[in-house]
Amino acid sequence: MSDVRVAGVGMTPFGKSPERTARDLFAEAAGKAYDDAELGPDVVEEVFFGNFMGEFAETQGHQGPMAAKAAGVTAPATRVDSACASSGAAVRMGIERVRSGQADVVLVGGAERMTNLSTADGTEALGAAADALWELRAGITFPGAYSLMANRYFHEYGGDREDLAHIAIKNHANAVNNDLAQFNKAIDMDDVLDAPTVCSPFGLFDCSPMSDGASAILLASPEFVEEHGVDAPVAITGTGQDSDNLALHDRDDVTKTPAAKRAAEQAYADAGITSDDIDVAEVHDCFTIAEALALESLGLYEHGEAIGAARRGETTIDGELPVNLSGGLKAKGHPVGATGGAQISELTKLLRGDHVNSDAVSDAEVGVTHNAGGTVASCVVNVLEVVA
Ligand code: COA
Repeated sequence: MSDVRVAGVGMTPFGKSPERTARDLFAEAAGKAYDDAELGPDVVEEVFFGNFMGEFAETQGHQGPMAAKAAGVTAPATRVDSACASSGAAVRMGIERVRSGQADVVLVGGAERMTNLSTADGTEALGAAADALWELRAGITFPGAYSLMANRYFHEYGGDREDLAHIAIKNHANAVNNDLAQFNKAIDMDDVLDAPTVCSPFGLFDCSPMSDGASAILLASPEFVEEHGVDAPVAITGTGQDSDNLALHDRDDVTKTPAAKRAAEQAYADAGITSDDIDVAEVHDCFTIAEALALESLGLYEHGEAIGAARRGETTIDGELPVNLSGGLKAKGHPVGATGGAQISELTKLLRGDHVNSDAVSDAEVGVTHNAGGTVASCVVNVLEVVA
C-alpha cells in the first residue's frame, strides 16, 4: 500500500495540569503540529480525535467538533474511542483516508484530562475499558487486571519483580532529558522495590501515572508533500489493528496478547517488512509487564523471553533494540486518549533525528508503535520508516 507521510507532529508536555481542559490541550498540540509542518489549519480535510473518559472527567461528549474547533479546522471531525488505544485508532483512520485518496491532509491525535479527578475516580473511569458486566462487578481495576497477567506469566515462564523493575528503571532513565515527559527522574532498584505496593507484584513504579496531555499529527499524501515542499522524511508504511475478548476470563491464555500479534502481522505485511527489520520501538507499557507482553506479540522476542530483555540490556538506550526511548507510558506519562498519537510523535522525531534521544538510534530506518486498549482487547500497530 502507498505510504502516508508524517508532515508534522505536536505534543503538549505530559503531566499534571488539572486546570486545563482537553480542548485547550489539543489546541496546543495541533498548533505545534502546524508549526512543525509549516502548514496552517486551512489544509486539513478531516479530523480524527482520540479520547476515552471525557464524559467522566469533563461531562463532555460529542468531541469531534470540539476538537476541530480547538484546532481551527472546519471539516468533518469524529471522535474515536478504543480506550487507551483511542488515538492509535484515530491515526489509523487518518491513514486510511489518505491512502484511499479521499483526503490529502488529515489531522489526527487525541487528548485526555485525568488529574482533575481523584485517583479513585480516575480508576473508576478507566475501569470502563474492562468488561463492566463481569470484571467490574468482581471489583477489578487496571492495576489488578495487569497484575493477574504478570503473576500468571511468572508462573508459566519465570521472571520476578526485579525483571519488571529493570523495565521501569530503563524507561525512567530514557525520560530524564525529555522535556515533554511527566517524570524527568532517574530511579534505581531500591526505589522500585521499596515503593508502596499498588497491587502485587506491582509497586508504584510498575504503573503508568494519571496524566493530562494531548498529541496531534498531520498526515499527508506523498503528492501533497511534494507539491507543497513539506519536509516530511518519515512515512507510516504499514498499519494493523485487531481485537480480542474484552474480559480476561474469556481469553485462552492471559500471558499472551493475540490482538497485538495479529495487528503486528497485518502492519508488517502492509509495510513489506518482518520483525527482524525493526530498529526501534515505542510500546504500550501501561504496566511494566505490558512492555514484555508487547515485545513478544510484536515478534521481537519468543514467548517467555522478553521479561528479561531490559535486565540483559537489550532494550536499553545502548542496547541492540532500544524500546521506549521517549520514556514510555511509565515515565513520559499516559493521558490515555493522547498516547497512541504521542507514540507516533516521539518515534517520528527519533527517526528524523530531532529527538533528545535520537543519537541512540542515528542509523535507525524502521520503527514500530504498539498502542493497546484495556488489557489488549484492542491494539493498533504502525510501522514508520525513513523514506526521504
Ligand atoms: N510512577 C511514579 N510516580 C508516581 C506515579 C507513577 N505511576 N503515580 C504517582 N506518582 C508520584 C506522584 O508524582 C507523587 O509524587 P510527589 O509526592 O513527589 O508529588 C506521588 O507519587 C503520589 O502521587 P499520587 O497521585 O497521590 O499517587 P496515587 O497513589 O494516588 O496513585 C497510582 C498512584 C499508581 C495508583 C496511579 O498513578 C494509577 O492508578 N496509575 C495507573 C493508571 C492506569 O491504570 N492507567 C491505565 C492503564 S491501562
